[in-house]
Amino acid sequence: MTSVLEYLAANRQRFVDDLRDYVRFPSVSAQPKHAPDLARCADWITARCRSLGLDAELHPTAGNPILVARTPVVRGAPTFLVYGHYDVQPPEPFELWKSPPFEARIEGKDLFARGACDNKGQHLAHLNAVEAYLKTGTPLPCNLVFLIEGEEEVGSGALYKFLPAHARELRCDAVVISDNGLPSMKHPALTYALRGIAALEVRLDGPSRDLHSGLFGGAVDNPAMALCQLLGKMRDAKGRVAVPGFYDDVKPLSKYERRQMAGLPSTAESFRKLTGVPALFGEAGFTPAEQRTARPTFEINGLTSGYQGEGSKTIVPSWASAKLTIRLVPDQNPKKVIAAVKKQLRALCPPSVRLTITNGHGGEPYIVSPEGPLAQASLRALEEGFGHPALLMREGGSIPIVSAFKKHLKADTLLLGLSLPDDNAHSPNEKFNLDAYAAGARTSAHLWPLLTAAAV
Ligand code: BES
Ligand code: ZN
Repeated sequence: MTSVLEYLAANRQRFVDDLRDYVRFPSVSAQPKHAPDLARCADWITARCRSLGLDAELHPTAGNPILVARTPVVRGAPTFLVYGHYDVQPPEPFELWKSPPFEARIEGKDLFARGACDNKGQHLAHLNAVEAYLKTGTPLPCNLVFLIEGEEEVGSGALYKFLPAHARELRCDAVVISDNGLPSMKHPALTYALRGIAALEVRLDGPSRDLHSGLFGGAVDNPAMALCQLLGKMRDAKGRVAVPGFYDDVKPLSKYERRQMAGLPSTAESFRKLTGVPALFGEAGFTPAEQRTARPTFEINGLTSGYQGEGSKTIVPSWASAKLTIRLVPDQNPKKVIAAVKKQLRALCPPSVRLTITNGHGGEPYIVSPEGPLAQASLRALEEGFGHPALLMREGGSIPIVSAFKKHLKADTLLLGLSLPDDNAHSPNEKFNLDAYAAGARTSAHLWPLLTAAAV
């Protein structure tokens, strides 16, 4: 292990240069014009894996290619699958970036670029650890399979098809993912639960065209007002989702979990400051950490209706629409919750407008026991890598493919997040902390012997 850690320290600058090269590709999966950039980015990461001595195969799909790369076979040893994604969120709005999003800028300990933390830097940290093993001739105690896809930010469509078709060759004892966060450099954490998601679009149609609000307003319903009133009824004054049956399958937090969460370093006030809101709001009876990771929510992501241009226009708009997502927690089921929400929307919609509901993407919530031997081994690796004891936490975000790993590979997922709360994932000026990058590689180096011992 000493030579592996020495190699990581000696090559720190080169690893930063690699990340700089990797973020240069504008691999924006949401925008079709970037398909060639995604292909070139996939070629780059494939070549990087081959240069380390991995057996790497890039699989074409109907969408963006999927990379499968393996370390040299160790017979009789367990296999761990490391998942990551080389696609990134759109960089817009460009004017809010302090430097171009696809030209890495280093300031202090941070490397700024779209994709730096979500997710290029996080899975490169694991590859750097593998390089250190292979280049120092230190035998890896287990088999590693890197599965790196290019559609995570748009729902992992190709991987959902790929996974059942390649389940045998992707067989593993556990999945390891670094595509999430940690509270601070002094508080590394193992994430043992993610929220699920269900997306919907709701549209109310009223008059056959926009009408003069002076001539018609008052005698015909206003779809924008009707939509606000309808959506307003979906949440009560105490911050609870007001849909019959919504909380039926929500697993209550155990006393042990609530104690763990209370021990997390973020306070309600530090969380308020991070967000810039004048006051926090959330479901009564729960702390902010509990509300945003272990309780379900009903969110409006976008609202559209009427005139949005300069000045004013006096109309009753012809229609109004809203993009909604519901974040789910164990043991809620996306289909069941969507059905309950649709039923309530239909029951409360007035006869003065026509309601249309369109289903969007969905993903199940995920939870794994934090007390199992693999989770405990991961906590120890994080402590070694960061030099501080590791916490247990839940996360509010979603990685829908994680429940497909459980279904098709029968494998649990260990989430070792390397992204800090101020890394601006999905926002302008995304960054990755280069100390977290190095600590992530050290964690990964320690992880493989610890996981191997725990798996057998
Ligand atoms: N890396 C995130 C998910 C994440 C972030 C999980 C922080 C836990 C903590 C991922 O790239 C993401 O943004 N997922 C989407 C999924 C959606 C598009 C289905 C999300 O959570 O909104
Ligand atoms: Zn993301």
